[in-house]
Amino acid sequence: MKHRWSSIMAGLPLAGLVLVGAASAAPVDDPAYHYKPNSYCGSCHKEQLRDYSRSMMGKTPHDQVFQQFYLGLDAKGRKDGMGYKALHPDEPGDCANCHTPDMVLNAGHEVDLMDAIAAGSQGISCDFCHTVTDVKVIRDPKTGRYQTAITRVVRRARGDTKGGPYRDAVSPAHKTAYSPIHTRSEFCAMCHLNQEHLLSLSTYADWKQAYDKGVVKRQCQDCHMPTGGKDRPVALGGPVRKAATIHRHLFHGGHFADQVKKAATLGVAGRIQGKQLLVDVRVTNSGAGHTMPDGATLRNILLVVEAYDDAGRPLRHTGGPRETLPPLAGRGKGPRDLAGHPGKMFARPFVTRKGTVPAGGFNADHVLFDTRIRPRETDHSVYHFAAPRSGHARVVVRLVYRWTYKPMADRKGWRLDDLPMARREIEVR
Ligand code: HEC
Ligand code: HEC
Ligand code: HEC
Ligand code: HEC
Ligand code: HEC
Repeated sequence: MKHRWSSIMAGLPLAGLVLVGAASAAPVDDPAYHYKPNSYCGSCHKEQLRDYSRSMMGKTPHDQVFQQFYLGLDAKGRKDGMGYKALHPDEPGDCANCHTPDMVLNAGHEVDLMDAIAAGSQGISCDFCHTVTDVKVIRDPKTGRYQTAITRVVRRARGDTKGGPYRDAVSPAHKTAYSPIHTRSEFCAMCHLNQEHLLSLSTYADWKQAYDKGVVKRQCQDCHMPTGGKDRPVALGGPVRKAATIHRHLFHGGHFADQVKKAATLGVAGRIQGKQLLVDVRVTNSGAGHTMPDGATLRNILLVVEAYDDAGRPLRHTGGPRETLPPLAGRGKGPRDLAGHPGKMFARPFVTRKGTVPAGGFNADHVLFDTRIRPRETDHSVYHFAAPRSGHARVVVRLVYRWTYKPMADRKGWRLDDLPMARREIEVR
């Protein structure tokens, strides 16, 4: 299949860097340039380094979960067949593309992740991001498929010019350049869009659809690199900048309770009708800029519905299996193994050709179900319980976020917390 730059989606900035200041020349790519470590940049940009070091992007590729999913190992380092290398021992895979972009772009082709780490990859570093000059989103208008190989979509200028949001920055350590691409979602699309057999990471595409409709008005940066706080310098020795221009490098997503709390609104109503208690639940994606959840196919959100009588005894669920959580909610005996419990899962799990669930993007054949909620849309579901004898019930409904499916975490030996997103409790008479 041929992809040409002419099939680029509309609305992208054509020029990457617009230079200011008489002394600057257009930055050119210098293949001999070595990316500086984050600690170097952070010696002057302390707030950026502190925030970024705590993010998941700042940790990859050293994040163990990521490496184990690449190598097909469990948390104890034993081979478990679940991972890219278990299926393709002799191929590098595309994993390094977005997790160690420096090495892949330097090589010009896919590289083995472990080789990239051994060769001293800086991961997704300050210096990598700030020497990017342009990102293209390439989509074949006929098939609707994207071309997402990082070597095709990114332009960069390795060297001492750092691009950012200011038009008047002056630094003793490096040249600076105003870079509009850094303020736009297309910058993040470089990695938050992955076309495999399926569109396994669809975050940018989901955002773009909502943005074009006017449903979402903000860029990725506005929500994941929030502004706020006091006016302050962004570098040692730099001028005081307006807080509204300083974007914190937090990148909070599915591993941060504060972020997942911003996404959903829960509406709950109940009524007793003869021998039945009916519970009506509405889940609205009120805060995310894309589907909820989005990102990696492992992410899942559980709606858990419970009903009790006056004495606090659980009421019997009578609504049948269609009102219960699927096996991916956990089939063990623990309190967080919620398969079969009244509720609903919001996710897009992948299935392999042989029918194994969950699959990764790399071995996915088809989608088991897609219940993710689009921005500002509402999911409506109803649950039936046996009515309490006293005619008085208490209903508790909660929404929790899991960065992976419980059965997978159990099998891998990964630690998995339930992050609370929303909770509602009502009395029904
Ligand atoms: C994933 C890419 C990425 C990484 C990694 C990254 N930045 Fe940024 N940075 C951005 C983007 C995007 C903006 C502009 C946000 C906007 O204005 O909308 C920015 C803005 C800035 C600014 C302008 C002031 C501010 O905070 O908004 C400075 C300075 C900066 N980054 C330095 C750093 C340093 C130092 C590091 C490493 C500790 C770093 N960046 C890591 C993407 C990145
Ligand atoms: C010796 C201190 C120092 C070091 C080291 C340093 N910077 Fe800076 N940087 C500055 C100063 C000062 C500014 C200007 C701040 C301003 O004008 O508000 C700046 C500005 C920036 C900007 C904003 C550019 C713009 O036009 O918006 C970015 C991005 C940036 N630096 C990234 C980096 C990166 C990446 C590194 C590591 C490779 C780095 N800096 C290392 C001092 C430093
Ligand atoms: C060079 C590739 C790359 C770029 C550019 C990039 N990301 Fe990421 N991002 C990743 C990877 C890889 C991860 C997963 C890291 C991990 O968990 O190992 C990630 C994770 C995240 C997460 C989830 C963190 C969590 O807590 O689970 C958020 C949010 C995020 N990125 C936002 C952004 C935004 C916003 C931008 C644009 C300003 C951006 N990213 C640009 C590769 C990238
Ligand atoms: C209006 C605010 C908003 C915008 C715009 C936005 N996000 Fe998010 N994002 C959220 C919230 C809230 C969550 C947590 C809920 C969720 O998981 O969807 C989230 C979650 C995420 C996650 C974690 C995985 C997940 O569950 O979805 C990633 C990765 C992410 N966002 C990346 C992006 C990227 C990339 C863009 C731009 C293309 C973007 N976001 C635009 C608010 C936003
Ligand atoms: C196109 C860019 C891209 C490619 C290629 C890619 N990833 Fe990722 N990966 C991401 C982004 C972006 C995230 C974060 C999504 C989110 O937060 O939901 C991520 C998240 C992950 C996570 C979740 C980490 C965690 O701690 O939750 C794992 C595991 C992972 N990737 C493994 C892989 C493997 C294995 C491959 C190769 C088969 C691969 N990735 C290829 C961009 C990419």
